[in-house]
Amino acid sequence: ALAGSSPQERTFIMIKPDGVHRGLVADIIKRFEAKGYKLVGIKVLVPSKDLAGKHYAEHEGKPFYPGLVNFLSSGAVVAMVWEGKEVIKTGRTFIGATNPLASAPGTIRGDYGIDVGRNIIHGSDSVDSAQKEIALWFKPAELAEYELISKKWVY
Ligand code: PPS
Repeated sequence: ALAGSSPQERTFIMIKPDGVHRGLVADIIKRFEAKGYKLVGIKVLVPSKDLAGKHYAEHEGKPFYPGLVNFLSSGAVVAMVWEGKEVIKTGRTFIGATNPLASAPGTIRGDYGIDVGRNIIHGSDSVDSAQKEIALWFKPAELAEYELISKKWVY
């Protein structure tokens, strides 16, 4: 078992406007919660074009960039920070491949998506991008410090 005070990996997970409008919020949260991960930050907002552009800044210049930024800022998103052992990698596994048609059944995109431009959810792909994305979307005070009472049954 992990020591009570050991630092835990964090990832940024965002349900995009298509996921919110299609009523998938609870299903997505349930997967992370049931796995044993800890929710440390959550908010719903309509991102500005500026924020959406910053989030996808590394893709600026790619043909899909303007459409992706417009889409993300077109409606409400649910921005979250989840914590736990190898949560970055597991989050990406839960999400599935970029193209929903290539995502395995059982993954979020594999279960619910068809089009790459409507792929429901974003998850950080590395420790570095997780840190940058968490800092972009959340103030430190918006991340809760607490201990899950179930922790000793998970680790
Ligand atoms: S790349 O070019 O390999 O770096 O792109 P990738 O990492 O696969 O995707 C970067 C983000 O852009 C989204 N994406 C697209 N959106 C709309 N249309 C097209 N064709 C497209 N291709 C990629 C992809 O879902 C990634 O966003 P997130 O939110 O991280 O999933």
